[in-house]
Amino acid sequence: MLYDLIVLGSGPAGYLAGERAGHAGMRVLCIEGRDIGGVCLNEGCIPTKTLLYSAKIYDNAMHGEKYGVAATAAIEHGKVLARKNKVVRTLVAGVKSALKANGVTVVNGLGVIKGKTDAGFAVEAAGVTHYGRRLLIATGSTPVVPPIPGVKEGLESGFVLTSREALTLADPPGRLVVVGGGVIGLELAAYFHTIGTQVAVVEMLDHIAGETDAELAAILQKGYEKKGMAFYLGARVTAITANSVRFDKCGETTELTADAVLLSVGRRPHIADIGLESLGVVAERGAILTDKHMQTNIPGVYAAGDVNGVYMLAHAAYREAEVAVNHMIGVRDTMCYDAIPAVIYTNPELACVGETEEAARERGRDVDVVKIPLRFSGRYVAENEGGDGICKLVVDKRTKIIRGAHALCNYSSEFIVAAGMFITLGLKVEDVKKIVFPHPTVAEILREAVFQF
Ligand code: NAI
Repeated sequence: MLYDLIVLGSGPAGYLAGERAGHAGMRVLCIEGRDIGGVCLNEGCIPTKTLLYSAKIYDNAMHGEKYGVAATAAIEHGKVLARKNKVVRTLVAGVKSALKANGVTVVNGLGVIKGKTDAGFAVEAAGVTHYGRRLLIATGSTPVVPPIPGVKEGLESGFVLTSREALTLADPPGRLVVVGGGVIGLELAAYFHTIGTQVAVVEMLDHIAGETDAELAAILQKGYEKKGMAFYLGARVTAITANSVRFDKCGETTELTADAVLLSVGRRPHIADIGLESLGVVAERGAILTDKHMQTNIPGVYAAGDVNGVYMLAHAAYREAEVAVNHMIGVRDTMCYDAIPAVIYTNPELACVGETEEAARERGRDVDVVKIPLRFSGRYVAENEGGDGICKLVVDKRTKIIRGAHALCNYSSEFIVAAGMFITLGLKVEDVKKIVFPHPTVAEILREAVFQF
């Protein structure tokens, strides 16, 4: 049968595109080689958040005294994992039923594009060739495995883990070296550290947390250092042995022995072996090139999610998928990346949206920056004894339009969307002053911040 749309991959981009296209009346086939829901649901966003929530409860119980609560607590990693698996099952079932409700046919098997025929785009999966008027490539990404001596052997022996294996470890390691202090590294470092693992983070750059606000990232690091986590920045890993990680820092070699190593040095788009060459789909620097409608150089062929390498975040993938489907069905829509929030779910969370002060200045934008301590929020003070959270707003000096917001505090993952709206709607400081926030909430810090201008 000829489908209106064949979707390759069922992660956030793939399943949402399937749902939206099905809802719009298209006949849709979704092909998935592994698990429905992709990395996000099965071995990424959701499993990590489940683990981190258990860690937070444990941490709160252990440090309840400052709130007048004396308790003894124990964390049972096995039970945490069992709950994580249950949460994943529940959400995967939800995605499956949403696909079904929207009439999407799902095939399990690796899909390989076989070119364009008179019958449409041909994709082979599970020994059958399927045909579609359009294609959406949403094959996601895979962990980067750098050519460091010993990595390959470590992966084979189980000493070196990617996030996938780290999320299924039956017993937490006594000592864990995390190579790469980005999002995955920090979130898993936070979990294992909280439950008692001795954690060291080895990062090549001179800061953790990638492109996030440098000052807030440094405060986050300091907080974890105080709790006993070790950080080695500006460190170049030179070898992984059977029980250690060796790295150079300022010309000196250090060797850390460990029970396990987490490799979290980035992910790369999954474009190998999916038959892109059969259509001549253009990829650059390992990612599929798309236009503002998420269409590739081949009309009728789209790419959304990690595979286009623009923003490797599930929520960016959702929006890209919607833009692609809208283009297919003739609804005017374009992709805009100006206000994609990013959150690192450490404790406290680090959330940001829009430009950092550094990025704005690099682009030659004249900006004002206000930095406000979270103690301006009553709810924060009530719930964070001794907390040192900070919120920053980046505002265009001339127009007073809000360009960026950055917050280091819990709940920031939930309220950063408000700042994203300010940016998306092009709101000025004066506009935000007129918005009523519920009181007491940590979100009120955004309101406090605009009154500093
Ligand atoms: P990342 O790009 O966030 O961080 C990788 C880090 O490894 C960088 O800081 C880099 O400088 C460092 N690095 C690279 N090579 C190194 C080496 N040889 N030695 C030491 N350090 C090295 O990548 P990560 O953490 O693996 O995450 C992958 C993707 O998953 C990201 O694009 C992220 O957006 C996404 N993700 C998002 C989450 C969220 O939104 N909360 C959670 C988990 C993943």
